[in-house]
Amino acid sequence: MRLSTALVWASAALPGAVAWGSLGHITVAYVASSFVAPRTESYLQGLLRNDTGDYLANIATWADSVRYTKWGRFSGIFHFIDAKDSPPANCSVDLERDCKAGGCVVTAIQNYTRRAMDTAGLADWERAQAAKFVVHFLGDIHQPLHTEDVARGGNGIHVLFDGREWNLHHVWDSSIAEKLVGSRRRRIYEDALRWATELAGQIRAGKYRAESKAWLEGMDLEDPIASALLWARECNAYVCSHVFPEGPSQIAGQELGGDYYEKAAPVIELQVARAGFRLAAWLDLMVAGIDATETGDEL
Ligand SMILES: *[C@@H]1O[C@H](CO)[C@@H](O)[C@H](O)[C@H]1NC(C)=O
Ligand SMILES: *[C@@H]1O[C@H](CO)[C@@H](O)[C@H](O)[C@H]1NC(C)=O
Ligand SMILES: *[C@@H]1O[C@H](CO)[C@@H](O)[C@H](O)[C@H]1NC(C)=O
Ligand SMILES: [Zn+2]
Repeated sequence: MRLSTALVWASAALPGAVAWGSLGHITVAYVASSFVAPRTESYLQGLLRNDTGDYLANIATWADSVRYTKWGRFSGIFHFIDAKDSPPANCSVDLERDCKAGGCVVTAIQNYTRRAMDTAGLADWERAQAAKFVVHFLGDIHQPLHTEDVARGGNGIHVLFDGREWNLHHVWDSSIAEKLVGSRRRRIYEDALRWATELAGQIRAGKYRAESKAWLEGMDLEDPIASALLWARECNAYVCSHVFPEGPSQIAGQELGGDYYEKAAPVIELQVARAGFRLAAWLDLMVAGIDATETGDEL
Protein backbone atom coordinates (compact mmCIF):
# COMPACT_ATOMS: atom_id res chain seq x y z
CA MET A 1 0.00 0.00 0.00
CA ARG A 2 1.39 3.39 -0.94
CA LEU A 3 0.46 4.95 2.34
CA SER A 4 2.12 2.49 4.66
CA THR A 5 5.24 2.63 2.50
CA ALA A 6 5.26 6.39 2.90
CA LEU A 7 4.85 6.00 6.65
CA VAL A 8 7.66 3.50 7.00
CA TRP A 9 9.82 5.85 4.99
CA ALA A 10 8.82 8.80 7.13
CA SER A 11 9.53 7.07 10.44
CA ALA A 12 12.83 5.73 9.15
CA ALA A 13 13.77 9.31 8.32
CA LEU A 14 13.01 10.45 11.86
CA PRO A 15 15.58 8.85 14.12
CA GLY A 16 14.96 11.22 17.01
CA ALA A 17 11.18 10.83 16.73
CA VAL A 18 10.49 14.47 17.44
CA ALA A 19 6.98 14.29 16.08
CA TRP A 20 3.72 14.13 18.02
CA GLY A 21 3.31 10.53 17.05
CA SER A 22 1.59 9.55 13.87
CA LEU A 23 -1.15 7.80 15.85
CA GLY A 24 -2.04 11.11 17.54
CA HIS A 25 -2.05 13.10 14.31
CA ILE A 26 -4.07 10.59 12.32
CA THR A 27 -6.59 10.26 15.15
CA VAL A 28 -6.98 14.06 15.35
CA ALA A 29 -7.65 14.07 11.61
CA TYR A 30 -10.29 11.34 11.86
CA VAL A 31 -12.02 13.07 14.77
CA ALA A 32 -12.11 16.27 12.71
CA SER A 33 -13.47 14.42 9.67
CA SER A 34 -16.39 13.23 11.72
CA PHE A 35 -17.38 16.76 12.79
CA VAL A 36 -16.79 18.98 9.72
CA ALA A 37 -19.74 20.31 7.76
CA PRO A 38 -20.54 18.46 4.50
CA ARG A 39 -19.44 21.54 2.54
CA THR A 40 -16.05 21.55 4.30
CA GLU A 41 -15.59 17.87 3.52
CA SER A 42 -16.33 18.22 -0.17
CA TYR A 43 -14.25 21.39 -0.49
CA LEU A 44 -11.20 19.86 1.17
CA GLN A 45 -11.59 16.57 -0.68
CA GLY A 46 -11.31 18.63 -3.85
CA LEU A 47 -8.37 20.73 -2.69
CA LEU A 48 -6.49 17.71 -1.32
CA ARG A 49 -7.48 15.56 -4.28
CA ASN A 50 -8.77 12.68 -2.23
CA ASP A 51 -12.46 11.89 -2.25
CA THR A 52 -12.33 9.11 0.32
CA GLY A 53 -13.30 9.47 3.97
CA ASP A 54 -9.58 9.39 4.75
CA TYR A 55 -8.79 12.70 3.01
CA LEU A 56 -7.56 14.35 6.24
CA ALA A 57 -5.97 11.28 7.85
CA ASN A 58 -4.04 10.73 4.64
CA ILE A 59 -2.19 14.07 4.96
CA ALA A 60 -2.03 14.46 8.76
CA THR A 61 1.63 13.41 9.05
CA TRP A 62 2.87 14.94 5.81
CA ALA A 63 4.46 17.87 7.68
CA ASP A 64 6.58 15.44 9.70
CA SER A 65 7.71 13.63 6.57
CA VAL A 66 9.08 16.83 5.00
CA ARG A 67 10.66 18.60 7.97
CA TYR A 68 13.94 16.70 7.73
CA THR A 69 14.24 17.04 3.96
CA LYS A 70 16.28 19.77 2.35
CA TRP A 71 13.16 21.39 0.97
CA GLY A 72 11.22 21.25 4.22
CA ARG A 73 13.90 22.21 6.72
CA PHE A 74 12.49 25.74 7.08
CA SER A 75 9.32 24.26 8.59
CA GLY A 76 11.02 22.43 11.48
CA ILE A 77 10.52 25.28 13.97
CA PHE A 78 6.82 25.52 13.10
CA HIS A 79 5.98 22.31 15.01
CA PHE A 80 6.37 23.78 18.50
CA ILE A 81 6.70 26.82 20.72
CA ASP A 82 9.49 26.58 23.31
CA ALA A 83 7.97 28.15 26.41
CA LYS A 84 10.78 29.41 28.61
CA ASP A 85 8.71 29.05 31.75
CA SER A 86 9.67 27.28 34.95
CA PRO A 87 7.71 24.09 35.64
CA PRO A 88 6.34 22.82 37.90
CA ALA A 89 5.75 26.13 39.77
CA ASN A 90 5.06 28.39 36.88
CA CYS A 91 3.86 27.42 33.45
CA SER A 92 3.18 30.08 30.82
CA VAL A 93 3.43 30.80 27.12
CA ASP A 94 4.51 34.26 26.01
CA LEU A 95 4.67 34.92 22.29
CA GLU A 96 7.37 37.60 22.53
CA ARG A 97 9.53 35.53 24.82
CA ASP A 98 8.96 32.07 23.32
CA CYS A 99 8.38 32.31 19.57
CA LYS A 100 11.62 32.22 17.58
CA ALA A 101 12.32 35.03 15.13
CA GLY A 102 11.63 32.63 12.25
CA GLY A 103 8.33 31.53 13.77
CA CYS A 104 6.71 28.87 15.92
CA VAL A 105 3.56 26.75 15.89
CA VAL A 106 1.42 29.76 16.85
CA THR A 107 2.55 31.96 13.95
CA ALA A 108 2.57 28.96 11.61
CA ILE A 109 -1.12 28.33 12.32
CA GLN A 110 -1.80 31.94 11.36
CA ASN A 111 0.39 31.86 8.27
CA TYR A 112 -0.95 28.61 6.85
CA THR A 113 -4.56 29.37 7.72
CA ARG A 114 -4.30 32.59 5.73
CA ARG A 115 -2.42 30.93 2.90
CA ALA A 116 -4.96 28.11 2.61
CA MET A 117 -7.67 30.75 2.24
CA ASP A 118 -5.80 32.97 -0.23
CA THR A 119 -7.66 31.97 -3.38
CA ALA A 120 -6.71 35.22 -5.12
CA GLY A 121 -2.98 35.08 -4.45
CA LEU A 122 -1.95 31.44 -4.38
CA ALA A 123 -2.21 28.43 -6.63
CA ASP A 124 -4.34 25.48 -5.54
CA TRP A 125 -1.28 23.33 -4.86
CA GLU A 126 0.11 25.99 -2.52
CA ARG A 127 -3.22 26.23 -0.71
CA ALA A 128 -3.38 22.43 -0.45
CA GLN A 129 0.09 22.45 1.10
CA ALA A 130 -1.00 25.15 3.55
CA ALA A 131 -4.08 23.11 4.51
CA LYS A 132 -1.85 20.10 5.23
CA PHE A 133 0.24 22.24 7.57
CA VAL A 134 -2.88 23.51 9.35
CA VAL A 135 -4.17 19.97 9.94
CA HIS A 136 -0.79 18.94 11.36
CA PHE A 137 -0.03 22.00 13.49
CA LEU A 138 -3.41 22.02 15.22
CA GLY A 139 -2.42 18.55 16.39
CA ASP A 140 1.08 19.57 17.50
CA ILE A 141 -0.12 22.53 19.55
CA HIS A 142 -2.17 20.13 21.70
CA GLN A 143 0.84 18.03 22.80
CA PRO A 144 2.23 19.51 26.06
CA LEU A 145 5.89 18.97 25.17
CA HIS A 146 5.39 20.90 21.92
CA THR A 147 4.80 23.93 24.15
CA GLU A 148 7.86 23.63 26.41
CA ASP A 149 11.53 24.57 26.23
CA VAL A 150 12.99 22.35 28.99
CA ALA A 151 15.50 19.91 27.47
CA ARG A 152 14.24 20.69 23.96
CA GLY A 153 10.69 19.71 24.80
CA GLY A 154 11.88 16.72 26.80
CA ASN A 155 13.97 15.28 23.96
CA GLY A 156 17.05 15.45 26.17
CA ILE A 157 15.55 13.57 29.14
CA HIS A 158 15.95 9.80 29.25
CA VAL A 159 13.21 7.80 30.92
CA LEU A 160 11.80 4.28 30.94
CA PHE A 161 8.38 3.28 29.68
CA ASP A 162 7.38 -0.28 30.52
CA GLY A 163 11.02 -1.18 30.79
CA ARG A 164 12.16 0.35 27.51
CA GLU A 165 14.35 3.41 27.22
CA TRP A 166 12.90 6.44 25.48
CA ASN A 167 13.22 10.17 25.75
CA LEU A 168 10.40 11.98 27.51
CA HIS A 169 9.26 13.72 24.34
CA HIS A 170 8.69 10.40 22.64
CA VAL A 171 6.72 9.11 25.61
CA TRP A 172 4.29 12.03 25.26
CA ASP A 173 4.27 11.90 21.45
CA SER A 174 3.70 8.18 21.13
CA SER A 175 4.18 5.72 24.02
CA ILE A 176 1.25 6.88 26.15
CA ALA A 177 -1.19 6.96 23.23
CA GLU A 178 0.02 3.63 21.86
CA LYS A 179 -0.40 1.93 25.23
CA LEU A 180 -3.83 3.48 25.72
CA VAL A 181 -5.04 2.32 22.31
CA GLY A 182 -3.15 -0.96 22.26
CA SER A 183 -1.90 0.09 18.88
CA ARG A 184 0.07 -1.95 16.41
CA ARG A 185 2.41 0.04 14.21
CA ARG A 186 1.41 -1.74 11.02
CA ARG A 187 -2.26 -1.02 11.58
CA ILE A 188 -1.95 2.61 12.49
CA TYR A 189 -4.84 3.87 10.30
CA GLU A 190 -7.23 1.24 11.63
CA ASP A 191 -6.19 1.90 15.22
CA ALA A 192 -6.50 5.66 14.75
CA LEU A 193 -9.95 5.30 13.20
CA ARG A 194 -11.10 3.06 16.04
CA TRP A 195 -9.79 5.55 18.62
CA ALA A 196 -11.27 8.53 16.78
CA THR A 197 -14.68 6.85 16.56
CA GLU A 198 -14.57 6.28 20.32
CA LEU A 199 -13.56 9.91 21.01
CA ALA A 200 -16.19 11.31 18.65
CA GLY A 201 -18.78 9.24 20.51
CA GLN A 202 -17.58 10.67 23.83
CA ILE A 203 -17.87 14.19 22.40
CA ARG A 204 -21.37 13.65 20.99
CA ALA A 205 -22.94 11.74 23.82
CA GLY A 206 -20.38 10.70 26.41
CA LYS A 207 -17.96 12.09 28.94
CA TYR A 208 -16.93 15.09 26.82
CA ARG A 209 -20.45 16.11 25.79
CA ALA A 210 -20.87 18.94 28.29
CA GLU A 211 -17.36 20.36 28.24
CA SER A 212 -16.79 20.16 24.49
CA LYS A 213 -19.04 23.19 23.95
CA ALA A 214 -16.48 25.29 25.79
CA TRP A 215 -13.64 23.93 23.64
CA LEU A 216 -14.55 26.37 20.88
CA GLU A 217 -14.61 29.43 23.13
CA GLY A 218 -12.21 32.13 22.02
CA MET A 219 -11.78 30.59 18.57
CA ASP A 220 -11.54 33.49 16.14
CA LEU A 221 -10.54 33.05 12.52
CA GLU A 222 -9.83 36.78 12.31
CA ASP A 223 -7.23 36.40 15.03
CA PRO A 224 -5.46 33.06 14.60
CA ILE A 225 -2.61 34.15 16.90
CA ALA A 226 -4.97 34.76 19.83
CA SER A 227 -6.80 31.50 19.12
CA ALA A 228 -3.60 29.47 18.91
CA LEU A 229 -2.21 31.10 22.07
CA LEU A 230 -5.30 29.99 23.99
CA TRP A 231 -4.71 26.39 22.88
CA ALA A 232 -0.97 26.60 23.58
CA ARG A 233 -1.50 27.97 27.10
CA GLU A 234 -4.15 25.43 27.99
CA CYS A 235 -1.79 22.70 26.77
CA ASN A 236 1.33 24.11 28.43
CA ALA A 237 -0.46 24.03 31.82
CA TYR A 238 -0.17 20.21 31.65
CA VAL A 239 3.61 20.60 31.61
CA CYS A 240 3.34 21.74 35.23
CA SER A 241 0.55 19.42 36.34
CA HIS A 242 1.31 16.17 34.48
CA VAL A 243 4.62 16.24 32.58
CA PHE A 244 6.88 17.54 35.37
CA PRO A 245 4.72 17.37 38.53
CA GLU A 246 7.87 17.18 40.63
CA GLY A 247 10.08 19.27 38.40
CA PRO A 248 12.26 18.38 35.41
CA SER A 249 15.20 17.26 37.55
CA GLN A 250 13.14 14.52 39.21
CA ILE A 251 11.99 12.67 36.13
CA ALA A 252 15.19 11.45 34.47
CA GLY A 253 15.58 7.68 34.69
CA GLN A 254 12.08 7.14 36.09
CA GLU A 255 9.75 4.35 34.96
CA LEU A 256 6.70 6.15 33.50
CA GLY A 257 4.58 3.16 32.46
CA GLY A 258 2.82 2.91 35.86
CA ASP A 259 1.28 5.65 38.00
CA TYR A 260 2.64 8.39 35.75
CA TYR A 261 0.95 6.76 32.75
CA GLU A 262 -2.35 6.42 34.63
CA LYS A 263 -2.41 10.19 35.16
CA ALA A 264 -1.06 11.11 31.72
CA ALA A 265 -3.35 8.93 29.60
CA PRO A 266 -6.55 10.94 30.32
CA VAL A 267 -4.67 14.11 29.36
CA ILE A 268 -3.56 12.64 26.05
CA GLU A 269 -7.07 11.42 25.36
CA LEU A 270 -8.60 14.82 26.16
CA GLN A 271 -6.01 16.70 24.10
CA VAL A 272 -6.54 14.50 21.04
CA ALA A 273 -10.31 14.94 21.36
CA ARG A 274 -9.99 18.71 21.74
CA ALA A 275 -7.58 18.99 18.82
CA GLY A 276 -9.87 17.03 16.50
CA PHE A 277 -13.00 18.91 17.53
CA ARG A 278 -11.29 22.29 17.19
CA LEU A 279 -9.73 21.35 13.86
CA ALA A 280 -13.19 20.56 12.48
CA ALA A 281 -14.53 23.93 13.61
CA TRP A 282 -11.45 25.76 12.31
CA LEU A 283 -11.70 24.10 8.89
CA ASP A 284 -15.41 24.95 8.77
CA LEU A 285 -14.58 28.61 9.41
CA MET A 286 -11.86 28.55 6.77
CA VAL A 287 -14.08 27.06 4.08
CA ALA A 288 -16.94 29.42 4.97
CA GLY A 289 -14.45 32.29 4.66
CA ILE A 290 -13.27 31.08 1.25
CA ASP A 291 -16.87 30.73 0.04
CA ALA A 292 -17.69 34.23 1.27
CA THR A 293 -14.72 35.73 -0.61
CA GLU A 294 -15.57 33.83 -3.76
CA THR A 295 -19.11 35.16 -3.75
CA GLY A 296 -17.89 38.67 -2.96
CA ASP A 297 -19.42 38.87 0.51
CA GLU A 298 -17.70 40.48 3.43
CA LEU A 299 -15.72 38.00 5.50
C1 LIG B 1 -6.80 8.89 -0.37
O1 LIG B 1 -6.52 8.48 0.95
C2 LIG B 1 -6.48 7.06 1.10
C3 LIG B 1 -6.36 6.72 2.56
O2 LIG B 1 -5.30 7.36 3.16
C4 LIG B 1 -5.35 6.51 0.26
O3 LIG B 1 -5.28 5.10 0.40
C5 LIG B 1 -5.54 6.90 -1.19
O4 LIG B 1 -4.43 6.49 -1.94
C6 LIG B 1 -5.73 8.39 -1.32
N1 LIG B 1 -6.11 8.71 -2.67
C7 LIG B 1 -5.40 9.56 -3.41
C8 LIG B 1 -5.93 9.84 -4.77
O5 LIG B 1 -4.35 10.06 -3.00
C1 LIG C 1 5.42 33.24 36.50
O1 LIG C 1 5.80 33.64 35.19
C2 LIG C 1 5.24 34.86 34.79
C3 LIG C 1 5.59 35.09 33.33
O2 LIG C 1 6.95 34.97 33.11
C4 LIG C 1 5.72 35.98 35.72
O3 LIG C 1 5.11 37.18 35.34
C5 LIG C 1 5.36 35.62 37.15
O4 LIG C 1 5.91 36.58 38.03
C6 LIG C 1 5.86 34.25 37.54
N1 LIG C 1 5.34 33.89 38.86
C7 LIG C 1 6.07 33.21 39.75
C8 LIG C 1 5.36 32.87 41.02
O5 LIG C 1 7.23 32.91 39.57
C1 LIG D 1 4.54 31.25 5.59
O1 LIG D 1 4.54 30.16 4.69
C2 LIG D 1 5.45 30.30 3.60
C3 LIG D 1 5.23 29.11 2.66
O2 LIG D 1 5.54 27.90 3.27
C4 LIG D 1 6.85 30.36 4.15
O3 LIG D 1 7.76 30.53 3.08
C5 LIG D 1 6.98 31.51 5.13
O4 LIG D 1 8.26 31.49 5.73
C6 LIG D 1 5.93 31.41 6.20
N1 LIG D 1 5.95 32.60 7.03
C7 LIG D 1 5.83 32.54 8.36
C8 LIG D 1 5.90 33.86 9.06
O5 LIG D 1 5.69 31.51 8.97
ZN1 LIG E 1 4.79 17.98 14.10
